[in-house]
Amino acid sequence: MKIDKKYETGVYWQDVQHGQMIDFYKQVLSRPSIARDPAMFSYSIGFLVMYADQHFKLEEAYMEKYNYPDTDTHTRHHREFIRELKAFKKKYTSYSDEAVSVLESKVGAWIKTHILENDQKLGAYLIRRQKEELLKS
Ligand SMILES: [Fe+2]
Ligand SMILES: [Fe+2]
Repeated sequence: MKIDKKYETGVYWQDVQHGQMIDFYKQVLSRPSIARDPAMFSYSIGFLVMYADQHFKLEEAYMEKYNYPDTDTHTRHHREFIRELKAFKKKYTSYSDEAVSVLESKVGAWIKTHILENDQKLGAYLIRRQKEELLKS
């Protein structure tokens, strides 16, 4: 599914990966067969942690490549989110109303604050730097 326009950064790979993460998270919550099976629930959260970690590493590699000025703050947010997801996975080993509401608030806050603020700022910076590079070549 395509990411909602207001969450787009304009950088193709970022938008595709954000869309995949949001879709996957919504699927976990909306499919009782996944969510209510403890093994599937735990596997799904593990997958989300792994995917988020890989996505963050890619953003961090681009930040380094293009000397992004906010790298430290942005990277700190990534590490905090991974820590929170891992703590969630440890605490909630199966589906419950509480687990769902905690996951919704954590991922929801990440979408609202991290994508809408940090990632969109990073995306605009990367687009500008890549245009500058093209003009130079
Ligand atoms: Fe990010
Ligand atoms: Fe991101």
